[in-house]
Amino acid sequence: MSDIPENGNQMDQWNSVMFLYDSALKEIKTKIDILNGEFVHIYGHTPIEHIKYRLKTPESIVKKLKADGLEVSIDNMVEKLSDIAGIRIICSFTQDIYQIADRIARQKDVSVLYVKDYIRQPKPNGYKSYHMVVTLPVYLTTGDVETKVEIQIRTVAMDFWASLEHKIYYKFEGNAPDDLEAELKACADMVDMLDAKMFSLNQSILELGDERASG
Ligand code: GTP
Ligand code: MG
Repeated sequence: MSDIPENGNQMDQWNSVMFLYDSALKEIKTKIDILNGEFVHIYGHTPIEHIKYRLKTPESIVKKLKADGLEVSIDNMVEKLSDIAGIRIICSFTQDIYQIADRIARQKDVSVLYVKDYIRQPKPNGYKSYHMVVTLPVYLTTGDVETKVEIQIRTVAMDFWASLEHKIYYKFEGNAPDDLEAELKACADMVDMLDAKMFSLNQSILELGDERASG
């Protein structure tokens, strides 16, 4: 943390900023819990398998600013980084991802800064996930502060792939052997197949259930 707060004042500023991001994460968490509960009422299933939250560590903040060629300062971290507060939502099916993203985006106090849809346009390595950077107000006694949160939404299968890819990326510091990369890419195609297959299987199960209920 050496590069950020150098004196008492900066420490105060650092704590205040991190308090905002932490509060924004809590607000988003509540919104998503409510959405998940509502889905159960309407569709009879929870689309969300699990949710992970994290605040970027001071070390990663410094590393990212430096990697982006920026001076390490609290102002730069607030202005230039969008993933200090991060949430990852793991869904059962690809279709759920778009529903959840849409419901979050439509909330009055949520503004979508940008979306990166790596599901419709996967990265060349095969990475798939839906990314949305939003701001939402944290209500303090001194006023409302719009605070950025990065939301990543993906299926269980996409998440499985991303975790392994992440491990390999770090192990080889971004220079994994070609054959490993090719295998990962092939696995990404299997992830697509699995997601499609599980979805259609689930549809069949639902239809069978409906037939039984009506017949
Ligand atoms: P950084 O990747 O954080 O520099 O930001 P960016 O502006 O490139 O945003 P992007 O939306 O591409 O990535 C944000 C986050 O998504 C990353 O911090 C990772 O958590 C995740 N991510 C992006 N690409 C990959 C990938 O190829 N593999 C894995 N495992 N995760 C990825
Ligand atoms: Mg990136």
